[in-house]
Amino acid sequence: MRITPSILNADFASLAHEIERIPSADAIHIDVMDNHFVPNLTIGLPVVEAIRKSTDKMLDMHLMIADPDRWAPAYAEAGAESVTFHVEAAHAPIRLARELRAQGARASMALKPATSIEPYVDLLDELDMVLLMTVEPGFGGQKFLDLVLPKIRRTRQLLGDRPIWLQVDGGVSIDTIGRCAEAGADTFVAGSAVYSSPEPDQMVKDLRAKAVAACQH
Ligand code: DX5
Ligand code: ZN
Repeated sequence: MRITPSILNADFASLAHEIERIPSADAIHIDVMDNHFVPNLTIGLPVVEAIRKSTDKMLDMHLMIADPDRWAPAYAEAGAESVTFHVEAAHAPIRLARELRAQGARASMALKPATSIEPYVDLLDELDMVLLMTVEPGFGGQKFLDLVLPKIRRTRQLLGDRPIWLQVDGGVSIDTIGRCAEAGADTFVAGSAVYSSPEPDQMVKDLRAKAVAACQH
């Protein structure tokens, strides 16, 4: 069970410090938004390059951008260990996944809540992670969409024995993480739950414990 906190709800003026506050995190989830694929604008490559210099933590890039075919490889080149593109935006997802892996990064595909996994089953061997959005991408602090739970279950079955991580992102909290873990997710993004907590690192540990406990039932 991996907890990959999103820094979207952290203090953008103190990112290095904000990352130091969560030593228990398995990776740092960085939300890149371009005001085209989603109606919000966050950070881009220069800031990610600065974060790369400030931490040894695994960087888990979530690119909510149009034309990832053109822009995603630069994040792998900048030293991010994992790069996620949205399949709705990719023109040639197989070529892109291979390019990311060739750059030495883990290649990952994200699906919005209304996008089905079934059309992409044949791509799975090209991937190291599948990210299922549990809110509409664009903003932190939204309510978890329970309607994605059946897709988490189906995706877990389709993954079979493959060592592919199954990540959920959006509205993940102490209240919702158990449902996601039970359904088959093993990697959890949490933004507001972690950074609105007075003790973010303790929240990371509590979320992990809750996910582990949910799977022992
Ligand atoms: C939403 C982002 C998420 C988000 C998570 O578009 O991809 O990573 O910041 O934040 P919470 O946990 O607050 O939903
Ligand atoms: Zn995200």
